[in-house]
Amino acid sequence: MEQVLVLIIILLSLASSGRCSDVYSRNDFPKGFVFGSAVSAFQWEGAVDEDGRMPSIWDTYVHSSDGPTGDIACDGYHKYKEDVRLMYNMGLDAFRLSISWPRLIPSGRGPVNPKGLRFYKDLIDELIRHGVEPHVTLYHNDLPQVLEDEYGGWIDKKIIDDFTAFADVCFREFGDKVKSWWTINDPNMLAWGGYDLGVFPPMHCSPPFGIGNCSRGNSSTEPYIALHNMLLAHASTARLYKQTYKDKQHGSVGITLFAYWMVPFTSSEEDKIATQRAKDFFLAWVLHPLVFGDYPDVMKRTAGERLPSFSKEESELVKGSSDFLGLIHYTAMYAAHLSTSIHAGDFNSDMNALLLPFGNSTLFKFDVLPWGLEGVLEYIKQNYGNPPVYILENGTPTNQHSSLNDIGRVEYLHAYIAAVLSSVRNGSDIRGYFQWSFMDLYEFIDPNYTYGLYYVNFSDPERARSPKTSALWYTALLQGSTVSSQKLKSLSVSSSPALSFQ
Ligand SMILES: *[C@@H]1O[C@H](CO)[C@@H](O)[C@H](O)[C@H]1NC(C)=O
Ligand SMILES: *[C@@H]1O[C@H](CO)[C@@H](O)[C@H](O)[C@H]1NC(C)=O
Ligand SMILES: *[C@@H]1O[C@H](CO)[C@@H](O)[C@H](O)[C@H]1NC(C)=O
Ligand SMILES: *[C@@H]1O[C@H](CO)[C@@H](O)[C@H](O)[C@H]1NC(C)=O
Ligand SMILES: *[C@@H]1O[C@H](CO)[C@@H](O)[C@H](O)[C@H]1NC(C)=O
Ligand SMILES: *[C@@H]1O[C@H](CO)[C@@H](O)[C@H](O)[C@H]1NC(C)=O
Repeated sequence: MEQVLVLIIILLSLASSGRCSDVYSRNDFPKGFVFGSAVSAFQWEGAVDEDGRMPSIWDTYVHSSDGPTGDIACDGYHKYKEDVRLMYNMGLDAFRLSISWPRLIPSGRGPVNPKGLRFYKDLIDELIRHGVEPHVTLYHNDLPQVLEDEYGGWIDKKIIDDFTAFADVCFREFGDKVKSWWTINDPNMLAWGGYDLGVFPPMHCSPPFGIGNCSRGNSSTEPYIALHNMLLAHASTARLYKQTYKDKQHGSVGITLFAYWMVPFTSSEEDKIATQRAKDFFLAWVLHPLVFGDYPDVMKRTAGERLPSFSKEESELVKGSSDFLGLIHYTAMYAAHLSTSIHAGDFNSDMNALLLPFGNSTLFKFDVLPWGLEGVLEYIKQNYGNPPVYILENGTPTNQHSSLNDIGRVEYLHAYIAAVLSSVRNGSDIRGYFQWSFMDLYEFIDPNYTYGLYYVNFSDPERARSPKTSALWYTALLQGSTVSSQKLKSLSVSSSPALSFQ
């Protein structure tokens, strides 16, 4: 009898110590680990021409055709108190928001707009009052149009001083309450998509390169120049914080990285090499300068003169300038060597790797591939000295007009947060996880596909918010419940009769 008991105890303890991280609770994460959710100013606030706000390059882009716009979006500008209340009720630790530069400093540089300042002070105060920690991104793709018109925005070095001055206002005005600052969202994706492919504002590209309407730009040089200036603007801002604010405010400043994980399309040697090249062009483009003060050799060899070089002083400024790293991860991609060389001489052909979606994934549907997030985290741990990392965006789209019962999103989040836990257990220094997005936002790739925990009725002038199943699931996790994929099957919100989906 005793032997049987001992055996049972051994089996039980094996089961719990070796249990796979499919079953977990927030108590399994390190003390102080932050669970949050995110939005960006342009996609959430609306009120685009209210109280002195001027247009950004996004406003210009969405108004260049007849499609939907972000003019009202979620109307967060007017409904922020209601939204903070939702966060409080969920038990959200932190909220990632961004500051609209053309709302705070409508002319790009110079006078601060008092009503813009008031809005962000009120929003930040409201968060703090409800125990929700603000994580603030300074630049989430919404450059003041006036700076684009005046000197081409990120392709001119003048942006460094203007950005630093904008950041200075934010640190001075909000820094007593905000301790986590993120300078630039997705710099690598913005540089590639905005200046080579021409698919994101400001839609620069040059024939024969680019997918978008190449009315201006230079795909051979501008992606490299834009990213270079983003790194310098980030580093200049981080230096300002250290020199002027850190002693009083005790916060930290970091930059973000859009991080696909990439695996070889076939087992061929060429695809393996192409995969490493894609990591060097896409990830190391940002990570190498931050950690080693220079671009990776393969980029320098391939792009030659088209890749700006760091002066000794700049190199020292950029190296070590990020207190923590913000990862933006949605999915894994295959990388394949391109044997038929298309047109040589832009970022894309320099990288010379075709990125292909996995399985059934499309732009609007991601397979659940949590090992991809583990891959990125492990790669950064092993190659870049295990810096402190926050996952700043992770989530999956669903059709906005389908159902509140978004069990696919719950499965995705469950698996990806489990992957974060595995990486923590394997030694990655991960400090927090932000789900994208807190509510359905104005998504510019296709507004029919949204990422929210809360449904927003964009046909309703009141922009009513309703929790989806994923909001209930995340609430349970935040409030300490143990979650397991077995339990997922029993979850669902009953669609309120007031909501009628097509
Ligand atoms: C391309 O952009 C130019 C200048 O912005 C505009 O005049 C033209 O209509 C656009 N073409 C298409 C196909 O969108
Ligand atoms: C892009 O810039 C490079 C370097 O200045 C120049 O040689 C090339 O002609 C430019 N291309 C276009 C399309 O303007
Ligand atoms: C892709 O879709 C098919 C058919 O629905 C399904 O059987 C398969 O498991 C899916 N693949 C992945 C990787 O999810
Ligand atoms: C865990 O970390 C070790 C040491 O960095 C590494 O060798 C191993 O591959 C990692 N395991 C996984 C699953 O990433
Ligand atoms: C979104 O869906 C509506 C119908 O529900 C359709 O008319 C519209 O074209 C779709 N938008 C895009 C960008 O595909
Ligand atoms: C959205 O709001 C409109 C207008 O108030 C209403 O007619 C519609 O039924 C709502 N849609 C859903 C899904 O509740």
